[in-house]
Amino acid sequence: MNLLLAEVAQATQRLAAAGVPSPRNDAEELAAYVHDVKRGELHTVPDADFDARYWEAIARREAREPLQHITGRAYFRYLELQVGPGVFVPRPETESVVGWAIDAVRAMDVVEPLVVDLCTGSGAIALALAQEVPRSTVHAVELSEDALAWTRRNVEGSRVHLHQGDAFAALPELDGQVDLVISNPPYIPLTEWEYVAPEARDHDPEMALFSGEDGLDTIRRIERTAHRLLRPGGVVVVEHADTQGGQVPWLFTEERGWADAADHPDLNKRPRFATARKALP
Ligand SMILES: C[S@@+](CC[C@H](N)C(=O)[O-])C[C@H]1O[C@@H](n2cnc3c(N)ncnc32)[C@H](O)[C@@H]1O
Repeated sequence: MNLLLAEVAQATQRLAAAGVPSPRNDAEELAAYVHDVKRGELHTVPDADFDARYWEAIARREAREPLQHITGRAYFRYLELQVGPGVFVPRPETESVVGWAIDAVRAMDVVEPLVVDLCTGSGAIALALAQEVPRSTVHAVELSEDALAWTRRNVEGSRVHLHQGDAFAALPELDGQVDLVISNPPYIPLTEWEYVAPEARDHDPEMALFSGEDGLDTIRRIERTAHRLLRPGGVVVVEHADTQGGQVPWLFTEERGWADAADHPDLNKRPRFATARKALP
């Protein structure tokens, strides 16, 4: 075993002892990052090239700083995004939400779909849709100036139109025209603060996480905003906490102008997102 792999094995034990949920993955990712190689190439790093800054990176992860803040990058579907303090780190569970949305847009058989991503954060959802639905026009809305510093870098050179502002007042010029509204908004109940993992609680922006006593304040307002923006027959997709699957679809009722409200699980089979179609007149 070369020196680097031996250090990785030791680092894995340290991260596990610190309660890091995926210690081997993170020890390897950090080794690859510090030595500027791919994870599969760690065994090729000569012993003489071992970089002691690896242990600085491990100490930061041990203190539960998010892996993505240390490396400055996050992977989301086919994208590599820039992230750091001030912006929410995109999560793997959101990838399946976007997957469903992409299938829904393709099934619409609209030549140039019009898509809006509310609460875009790093721009992960908007960028994935723009990349994977080639003829789409994608608008992304974000309120936080700190987050937008990262979003602007990520959307540079892409087809995403970025707007700073409150999601609930966003894009009145598109009212009644949008094919898909998608959002991964803040949804954690304030009462659950103490149960949130330290990586999120101490490093994701508060505004990205919490939304009122039951966590549903933002989603309730997204429901109205989506209804305003969508064309009849257009679709809304909203991520929620795995404890909210029994509540969120019920916000999209027939009385409020919706059809086909449903809830969907993520890859871990946990309730993860609600969808509905704007009713035809
Ligand atoms: C859970 S994060 C999700 C970010 C991104 N959509 C993702 O999936 O990685 C929620 C985002 O909503 C933004 N946000 C919260 N309230 C907002 C509002 N009223 N209008 C626009 N953005 C808002 C936060 O700043 C944060 O970036």
